[in-house]
Amino acid sequence: TMATAAKATNPTTFSIAHRGASGQAPENTMAAFEKSLEYQADYFEVDVQMTKDGELILMHDTTVDRTTNGTGRVKDFTFEEIRALDAGSWFHESFAGEKVPTLGEVLDRYTGSNIGVLVELKNPELYPGIEQKIAEELIQRNITTKDSNIIVQSFHWNAVKKIHQLLPDIATGVLIGYGQTVAGKITNEQLASFQTYASYVNPNKGLLNNNTVHRIHQHRLKTWPYTVNDRKTITQLLHFGVDGIITDYPLLVNMPANAT
Ligand code: G3P
Ligand code: CA
Repeated sequence: TMATAAKATNPTTFSIAHRGASGQAPENTMAAFEKSLEYQADYFEVDVQMTKDGELILMHDTTVDRTTNGTGRVKDFTFEEIRALDAGSWFHESFAGEKVPTLGEVLDRYTGSNIGVLVELKNPELYPGIEQKIAEELIQRNITTKDSNIIVQSFHWNAVKKIHQLLPDIATGVLIGYGQTVAGKITNEQLASFQTYASYVNPNKGLLNNNTVHRIHQHRLKTWPYTVNDRKTITQLLHFGVDGIITDYPLLVNMPANAT
């Protein structure tokens, strides 16, 4: 079956389940993380934000509107209030009662397991001190080294730098979208800067080609493009030599090359 298929295309390319296996379960919930484990993803990705009372919770949008039965901004909720919301029903009634998880719960459940966690720091400008909070959650659990299977990434490069300063042995990643490139190109100057505080440069999939992947590797960085949900693009990216693929459907990356 697909779930047990070996990674035939390129055994060294990681599959990263975007917001968990969010094609098959409500994003950023334990149900989606458990599905990604079942599908043998190498990592799952989570989006971290902070409640009014300083709890680190997992949600993509700055408001709860799209992915829960509530309305309003994450930063205006207490943890108790956000925990009372239903984060599953919007996706499918069979997920009714899913709760908004905390970063701590995910670290407790998955640290030392077969699956790693790619932690995205969302909108740090809205949450002063969130880098310190994340560092504290990791330190509390003795997650301080590169072999810990935890990576912290952000589109906000200053936040990545802060994490690197606080925890120099934790792997970090720079996310990059079109608007952050120089005319659609990731430059060598940018790569030279990223390599001083990060181990990964994780771009929009459309920013990669053979040359760019080659230059990323020359700078001793790895690259995990986002968010790739079709087999054709996955195949192309594997040919470019990417190190991982962030996808809503981890089985698409793990299936044999000749399956479609
Ligand atoms: O991990 C990369 C990807 O999650 C970035 O985009 O908007 O889904 O957080 P977004
Ligand atoms: Ca994300």
